[in-house]
This record gives sequence, C-alpha cells and structure tokens, in this order.
Amino acid sequence: EKGGYDHFMLKEINEQPRSIADCMRGRLDARSGRLILGGLQDYMNKFQNADRIIITACGTSWHAGLVAEYLFEEFARVPVEVEYASEFRYRNPVISSKDFVIAISQSGETADTLAAIELAKEKGATIFGVCNVVGSSIARATHAGSYTHAGPEIGVASTKAFTAQISVLSMMALMLGYQRGTLSESKYMTLLSELEAIPAKVEKALKLNKKVEEIAAQYKDARNFLYLGRGYNFPVALEGALKLKEISYIHAEGYPAAEMKHGPIALIDEEMPVVFIATKDSSYDKVVSNIQEVKARKGIIIAVVTEGDETVKKMADHVIEIPPAHEAFVPLISVVPLQQLSYHIAVMRGCNVDQPRNLAKSVTVE
Ligand code: M6R
Repeated sequence: EKGGYDHFMLKEINEQPRSIADCMRGRLDARSGRLILGGLQDYMNKFQNADRIIITACGTSWHAGLVAEYLFEEFARVPVEVEYASEFRYRNPVISSKDFVIAISQSGETADTLAAIELAKEKGATIFGVCNVVGSSIARATHAGSYTHAGPEIGVASTKAFTAQISVLSMMALMLGYQRGTLSESKYMTLLSELEAIPAKVEKALKLNKKVEEIAAQYKDARNFLYLGRGYNFPVALEGALKLKEISYIHAEGYPAAEMKHGPIALIDEEMPVVFIATKDSSYDKVVSNIQEVKARKGIIIAVVTEGDETVKKMADHVIEIPPAHEAFVPLISVVPLQQLSYHIAVMRGCNVDQPRNLAKSVTVE
C-alpha cells in the first residue's frame, strides 16, 4: 500500500509529478488553448463579475490560498483576501452577494472551514470548493467546486494535496485573467504552456532527494529553523516551516524575507539554519541582500535556487538547484525540496512521520 516506500509521506511527495498532471488532465491543453474546469462553468459569470475573492482555509490549504492571492491579483487584477477560517467565522466579516468565496480543503471535513462556508452562504456569497476528498462535507456544502484529483493523501503532513490545490487555483486564475481581459491572448497561451510543463520539472526536482538528505543529516539536531522567501515563495517559506514543525518537532518559523529585520534577525547566530527560497524571479535581488544580512550574522544558509545560479552559490553553505519556471508557478517546484528536508529530518530523529503526535489528518473539531 505504501508502494515500496517506508512512509506514505515519501510516497506522496514522489507522486507529485503524476498528481499534478492528473489534476490538469482533461482540463488544460496548452496547444489548443483549452482550459475547462467543469465545476466553474455554471458559475463563471459570478466569478468574472465578483468585486472581491475571499479565500478561506486552514493550515497548508491556507498557504495554497496565499499563493492564489498572488496569482489572482497578478493575472486577473481582482482584490483577494485570504482568511484563516477560524478567524473569519468569528469576526462578523463584511461579506456580500458580490463576493466569490473559495474554500480550500484537502479532507473536506475541516470544522472551521465548513463553518466559514455556512456563514458566507448566509450572507449571500457564492461559495466554490477546492477539495481533494470526493463527496466530503465541504464539497457538498459549497455551490460548486473543482476537485484536486490528487488521490488519497494518507500522511498527516499535506504534500501532494498542496501542489494539486495550487494547480487548480492557477488554472482558475488564468481562466479569470483571460475572461476579464487582463491577460492578453499571447500571455495566456504562454502561461498555459508554462503550467503544463510543471510536472516534468517537479520530476526533476525530486531527483534532489539525496542531496537534501545529506543536508538533513547535518542539521537534524538544530533546535530552530527559519524559512524565508518573497513574493510567490513567501507562502512556500511558511509551508516549509509548517512541514518541519509538524513532523520533526523542531521549532521553525516562516517569514517574508523582508520582515526579518523587524524582529527575527535577532535570532540569527552560527547555530541557526536559515532556509532561503531564492529562485530567479522579480524579487531575486532583494532576496540576495537578505541572504547577505544573514551571512553577516554568521547564520547557516541553505538556499533553494534556480539551476545555474552563481551568486547565491558563493554565499550559501548549501544550495539546492531546481529547474527554472515562470515565477508564478515556482511554488509547485520549490516546495518539493522543503517537503523532502522535513521528511528526512523527521525520519533521522525517529519521529512518526505519517502520524505525528497530537495531530489528526482532518481536524473535525474547532
Ligand atoms: O483537510 P484540510 O486541507 O482542510 O486541512 C487543513 C489543515 O488541517 C492541514 O492542512 C494541516 O495544516 C496539515 N496537517 C498540514 O500538513
């Protein structure tokens, strides 16, 4: 059942090229420019004319929502708010029938997310679900939705569901941008091909496993980790830190790299591993300066970079080189070595990777 792997988590990490492709199968065809999400067809009008998109979720699904905020705003120029379901539901939020609410959930059973949906529904909003489990409570409670089709995710740490969620949200953002006319035909066609090329790049990134395992062996006894990224890689930093915390019980924090100097920089010393996601994108130069700042304080630098990077290689203690991609889709690749890093550290520390203490696969109590 674990398909020859020691743990479900590792199996699920390795399934990602296929699960992302499965998620796009029959929906996206770059050559013909075809992009169809069955669940969205009847609600396209509402989606296109929404004043605002509100995304609500918990945990890793909330991180996927943060990536979507960047995607929707960049491609479709619609204001987006990303809300922790638990805060949203108790805040008496301002919601109207012009809002399009997207609820993201792997299990489709998360109590807070379900309650947030009920609340938004009462206020007249349109609710769209991005769920993995077919027929789940959230899938049933929403007006419409698109499944992520990642297949069953057994490991408590979410991996392939996260990349499938981002894949669905990326397709939604491209569709919306095209329909609203904020994406030109040629830009849209290019982005479709970029997205279609992702599974092969994830396959390549998975080959970094050995290298990541060696890094894990060196830092498995660290007491703290910091994860930093900017732009599309900021949510990836949060996700990398969450993965490490939940399965290895090492304290880790994710931050937008620029926030470092507003506090976390005080933590940096020669014992502190800092994981930077520093791929070649529009915030690259800024991230490089942040790396310099950490280096000046003798922090240990582990950097996820774009293949062929020379600048960061000279500064970092370790680099993990991933294939180049359009920056909007880089999270689908850059998260992979971070999943592997947390996996190996947890195994080396003797932790129960698939069923970490105090955690359940679906949080059905608030
Ligand atoms: O099933 P959901 O996506 O609604 O679950 C949300 C969170 O409980 C979940 O992502 C949790 O944070 C994971 N254990 C993270 O790996």
